[in-house]
Amino acid sequence: MMQLIDGLKISRAIKAEIAEVVKELQAQNKRVPHLAAILVGNNIASATYVNGKIKSCKEVGFQSTLIQLPDTITEHELISEIHLLNNNDAIDGFIVQLPLPKHIDEKDVINNILPSKDVDGFHPVNVGKMVLDLPGFLPATPKGILELLKRYHIETDGKNVVVVGRSNIVGMPVNIMLSKKAYPGNATVTLCHSATVNLKSYTLEADIIIAATGKINLITADMVKDGVVIIDVGMNKLEDASKKRGYRLVGDVDFENVSKKASYITPVPGGVGLMTVASLLQNTLEAYKGTYYDKLIGL
Ligand code: GUN
Repeated sequence: MMQLIDGLKISRAIKAEIAEVVKELQAQNKRVPHLAAILVGNNIASATYVNGKIKSCKEVGFQSTLIQLPDTITEHELISEIHLLNNNDAIDGFIVQLPLPKHIDEKDVINNILPSKDVDGFHPVNVGKMVLDLPGFLPATPKGILELLKRYHIETDGKNVVVVGRSNIVGMPVNIMLSKKAYPGNATVTLCHSATVNLKSYTLEADIIIAATGKINLITADMVKDGVVIIDVGMNKLEDASKKRGYRLVGDVDFENVSKKASYITPVPGGVGLMTVASLLQNTLEAYKGTYYDKLIGL
């Protein structure tokens, strides 16, 4: 029997855990954690994600600040905003929502975030810490995926995991994290991408497939074995005249047909996306506590 992996239920449970901690801080008359988000331009998807992050802050009792900047902003001006947040003691952590307009170099921008406030885990220092298994901020989406595997007690030890997609946000880090000698982890991970020849030959061998490509119906039922675990990270818009908005959200996996062969599968929406936000809140709480970095020196 296929079991749905309920990202809504798990993300709510995580938020409830965080809200408890915030209540305790408030009872002690302490300041609450404060997350800031920078949103550049008017990409509707990015605005939706950032609004979800701000709304979730309110739900758990965090303070939040949304900084909206026009897409005409220069890279230099954006980096100046980042330096203000780096130096603002009232902000525990912040994110710069990606993608950025084409005239801005994402690597330059990320390099300017103070690692101790980089709750997205995108700065090279945090990526390096992740690779070397040192304490640091883990990127939110992969962290959320591991949390789902853990809370559903899904075995990963010695399993074949096929990751499809090599982005810095999902594919690359989840590949590294599931390769570690840990639970969830200790898996044999294969990272497939746009240059992979015969993707199906890999996915057919997979016990767990993590699809993060942004391509609708990339993973079809003929490409998976019976009992496969499916983690669908895709967030694609599909035209749907029956919806008020004119579209619906679908993942990278042909859910209707693949779910018939899967043992576990994440729905879209209601799966991984909500976990990204929950993980971001967890990271912000750790930033507040100063778990990974000395707050005074930022290292
Ligand atoms: N764009 C897509 N996913 C993410 C994310 O987790 N963080 C940021 N900052 N941008 C994103």
